[in-house]
Amino acid sequence: MPRFDDADFGVEAAPAEPSPRDTSRDAVPGSISIPSDPNAQGDVIEVPATRSSISDASQYMHNLSLSPSMKDRRGSRNSFGTSLPIPRSPRPSRLSSVVTADGARAGAVPGAVSRDILASQIQDMSKEKVKAAKNMAFVFDIDGVLAHGNELIPEAREALKMLNGDNELGIKIPYLLLTNGGGKTEAARTQQLSEILGVPISTDQFIQSHTPMRALAEYYETVLVMGGEGFKCREVAENYGFKNVVHPKDILAWDPTISPWRCFTPEERAEARVRDYSKMKFDAILVFADSRDYATDMQLIMDLLLAEDGKLLTRAKDPVSSRIPIYFSQGDLVFPTDHKGPPRLTQGAFRIGVEAMYKAITGVDLERVVYGKPELATYKYADEVMRGWMEQIHNESRLPDNVYMVGDNPASDIIGGNMYGWNTCLVRTGVFQGKEGENDPNSPANFGVFDNVLEAVKAAVRKELGEDFKFKWNPKVNPVLHGEGMSAVE
Ligand code: G3P
Ligand code: MG
Repeated sequence: MPRFDDADFGVEAAPAEPSPRDTSRDAVPGSISIPSDPNAQGDVIEVPATRSSISDASQYMHNLSLSPSMKDRRGSRNSFGTSLPIPRSPRPSRLSSVVTADGARAGAVPGAVSRDILASQIQDMSKEKVKAAKNMAFVFDIDGVLAHGNELIPEAREALKMLNGDNELGIKIPYLLLTNGGGKTEAARTQQLSEILGVPISTDQFIQSHTPMRALAEYYETVLVMGGEGFKCREVAENYGFKNVVHPKDILAWDPTISPWRCFTPEERAEARVRDYSKMKFDAILVFADSRDYATDMQLIMDLLLAEDGKLLTRAKDPVSSRIPIYFSQGDLVFPTDHKGPPRLTQGAFRIGVEAMYKAITGVDLERVVYGKPELATYKYADEVMRGWMEQIHNESRLPDNVYMVGDNPASDIIGGNMYGWNTCLVRTGVFQGKEGENDPNSPANFGVFDNVLEAVKAAVRKELGEDFKFKWNPKVNPVLHGEGMSAVE
């Protein structure tokens, strides 16, 4: 059970009937808090922020520590009245897909029917193990656990195959992929991951850092969306239902001089939508992924934060009171990649830069909202997705009691999982590089530290299903001889 509950954070039950949402920023003068009209919560849940909404820049200007301790994070939770809306239910099923490793949609596989019959006979004779299997689930981080960039971490494939039914019961154990990564649509990324991992990944078991930010489309109409390759984040935001999505390159195409050090190719110009952006009133800035052009993105963020009422080419007399809100999809400072040296800087570092600039220019701390692990809203959204996935896998729309988060970053995966009441497993294949026998001193994994994801999965399954559990399906198993305490593999 989550250690936090709604009462702990003052979440109020939403009314049954949706009603039109107030998108006017006049409803929230001088604050990044979402309009909180209690009649306007039909399709979303507003989850109070657990991280401070105030800039971290001052802290990092004097202290280069990259891992705020659990104590510091806990101290900041729920203290600023900001809420992070998340969708009340997972994404519409029209966006769902299950793809196979070779890109085809999953369907009947030759031989699967007889295997399913055999597996169900085995499961009928192993009721206790089946009950335990249906009461557990995994949540996997991606970068540093399953892959490094586009390179598979080899043990990941075996772990996922085992959870997909390659085990003595032939039973599926549900798992979600919960990443702070992003920058492309859920469908595109799951397709890519299916190919890298060699197992089918469905959008219904997949959460990127910006996935819960779909709920913000209920609040903001015209948004500047940043990060990621090319114009892919524009497509993401349009899929989420934002009505008027502008990308920095659209603005560059209109006025290249707006960013003196721009990176802008003729191909990008061809894809850009040129409009008179001086006439547009932006409602919010959404950073969905890592910036590919820091100079332009930081310039446009500053321009809009300092503008009068979200209008480019203007400067507000009082930038704080007329400032439009800015949202970041996640706060990781570094992440593991296929680079052979230390982890690389990511969106959190970009955000610290923005905050420092804002403070230097205005003298005040920037208020902003950060989604992604370890933010509570992201874990609550994971529960919504988990319920739906449990229904697809086990035909039971409920949360399992034993959830195991496997992550490589103590400051996001592990601290968040610990606070949410999950079992946490820290692996040594990513950001955390502790030696044998060491745990993270600030955010220790409560279930343990493992060499890789396969070791973590095996330990968790053995704990729930028994030390003798076999991590391989035996197609020659005889159900008559198989039962509690009997092995399916000779
Ligand atoms: O940019 C950081 C992000 O890529 C980390 O992803 O999967 O480790 O949460 P993940
Ligand atoms: Mg990671």
